[in-house]
Amino acid sequence: MPNRTAVRVVAHRGSSGAVPEHTLAAYRRAIEEGADALECDVRLTADGHLVCVHDRRVDRTSNGRGVVSTLELAQLAELDFGSWREEALPPEEPEAPDRDPELPVPGGRLPDPERSSVLTLERLLELVADAGRRVELAIETKHPTRYAGRVEAELLRMLHRFGLVGQDPRQPDGAGPGPVRIMSFSQLSLRRVREAAPSIPTVFLMERLPLRFRDGSLPRGVEIAGPGIELVRANPGFVARLHRAGHRVHVWTVDDPADVELCLRLGVDAIITNRPREVLDQLGR
Ligand code: G3P
Ligand code: CA
Repeated sequence: MPNRTAVRVVAHRGSSGAVPEHTLAAYRRAIEEGADALECDVRLTADGHLVCVHDRRVDRTSNGRGVVSTLELAQLAELDFGSWREEALPPEEPEAPDRDPELPVPGGRLPDPERSSVLTLERLLELVADAGRRVELAIETKHPTRYAGRVEAELLRMLHRFGLVGQDPRQPDGAGPGPVRIMSFSQLSLRRVREAAPSIPTVFLMERLPLRFRDGSLPRGVEIAGPGIELVRANPGFVARLHRAGHRVHVWTVDDPADVELCLRLGVDAIITNRPREVLDQLGR
């Protein structure tokens, strides 16, 4: 019988099915919706800040153009990371009857910097610190090999600043994972994290069944496996092999209710989804 309460629900790029991904509003909504954890991707700007952006370039998710690592934070701060999604979304609230008709409000919405500004990791950590409840973080390093360890160094510096390194990963309120885990498709990146901060759990992300690890083993020291849902659908027995080898299994990106049921049947430990509220509803939480 699947355990519908133990599985962690992780908001992928925030509540990104409803709100522009990686914006403060997307994460605030995920917290309000009851997500157990927040997933985010981090990239380094030209002047050394970690920002929550998925793609190498800003073109898809903003009104600007260019490569994140060649832009400074001040340049990113001038871009609109929200309006690219607004047309596709229903209006958030019915239009107020007394609104001044002269007000230039694109798409019938009040401009909201929380939905449109680039989000720094620092700001996201502040949001989590102020959440008023335990919210876990699953932070993914993107293409870190290019930066010779600078992404991991800056990430760990920031986590230290917020007191998130060196905590006992087994919290007194339950045997769940620690409040922060670091994920990557790059074994090199995970190794750097483990060497610098062995107390932080790491997640090895996998898009395809890795030949070397098809028996359920993982790179040395990695506790958690992060297979994509397509991999799990095609190889459901892989989850059991990972569990037998002593690993937790966090599956991404699970939005379809049938895939949620599959994950429950297989007993995965976390479901990473763009639609945390819908998944929580399906779990009866
Ligand atoms: O949570 C892992 C997942 O986010 C990896 O894929 O492309 O969405 O970063 P991607
Ligand atoms: Ca990611």
